[in-house]
Amino acid sequence: MSRSLFREAVVDLDAIRHNVAVLASSAAPAQAMVVVKADAYGHGAVPVARAALEGGASRLGVADLGEAVALRDAGIDAPILAWLHDPDADFGTAVERDVELGVSSREQLRAIAAAAASVARPASVHLKIDTGLSRNGISAEAWASAVDEAARLEREGALRVRGIFSHLSNASPAEDAAQLAAFERALAGASAAGLAPEVRHIASSAAAIRTPEARYDLVRLGIGCYGIPPFGDGTTAAELGLRPAMTLRARVAAVRRVEPGTGVSYGYTWRAERPTTLALVPLGYADGVPRQASGRGEVWLAGARRPVVGRIAMDQFVVDVGDDTVEVGDEVVLFGDPATGAPSADDWGDAADTIGYEIVTRIGPRVPRTYVGSA
Ligand SMILES: Cc1ncc(COP(=O)(O)O)c(C=O)c1O
Repeated sequence: MSRSLFREAVVDLDAIRHNVAVLASSAAPAQAMVVVKADAYGHGAVPVARAALEGGASRLGVADLGEAVALRDAGIDAPILAWLHDPDADFGTAVERDVELGVSSREQLRAIAAAAASVARPASVHLKIDTGLSRNGISAEAWASAVDEAARLEREGALRVRGIFSHLSNASPAEDAAQLAAFERALAGASAAGLAPEVRHIASSAAAIRTPEARYDLVRLGIGCYGIPPFGDGTTAAELGLRPAMTLRARVAAVRRVEPGTGVSYGYTWRAERPTTLALVPLGYADGVPRQASGRGEVWLAGARRPVVGRIAMDQFVVDVGDDTVEVGDEVVLFGDPATGAPSADDWGDAADTIGYEIVTRIGPRVPRTYVGSA
């Protein structure tokens, strides 16, 4: 990698392409949708979307319409599905920009049909059944009337039901199996109503990898594409054949030698027990480094893992390098590919009582994203 900036998140687009190819080929013949919501989990939606399509994705997924329109504005013309809508969402623009819409209620179905009529083009929708996650989606009780209404709107030319989908809780294999059974019932109901969707989909990364019967026609791959394992059970990226795409790094901003008893950072939650050398890292909670990981996280610096000591502040934190030699300007890696010795995003997740997903997604706007890998 090139010399680091003061602070930066380096995103390896070759790793994205590689991960998408690995996951897509193991899920084939199911198609692969790559989920690029939340600025591609903090990695940068547009470059990641392009790399994902090059890696073998046939579709893209986002949460809300604004994210979909931003991809269209960047010239991306692959199918895009958006599934989480404001009550006053501008579905007319969605139809005009060829954005497929997840539908979680009959109100949404009607609003989408009305918007399609206003722009004189049929909408493309994916009906979402709530199979148990209790977040979004049409309930099992409301499903029969919703699919009847969708079938009528399809016959009238207002919309086309391209997909039927749901989302798993990953609570346990038994809970997932119960959700798959509920999904099967919903598919049967849709078929009885006369719907023939092109794609049925329920699996995200975890089920796409470990639950072949959940793959149906399409898998929605998020975290795995970023090279972070979806399981939270200690399985490593390398064991899954995946490469972490993001490296969060900075340059040491200051170095000082301190005496025993020296307190570090707000509240002096840590004091040196012996003479030691401290290095200042110019990243803090404003940049998404979780304060919760104070005294628990580690970084890679001067060829070894170094502990965070004292509280992580808004812009900076301190690591203890003992008697090793460290200089201002040295590269410090918070997380990246563990194959290099650096901690993983999941290691920081563990240190902050959260998950790797949150660690990469929360990196703040002050941290420039830079890209490596073939364009
Ligand atoms: C509806 C939906 N599908 C797929 C995904 C991708 O999940 P994962 O990142 O675990 O692969 C998400 C992300 O949370 C999601 O909300």
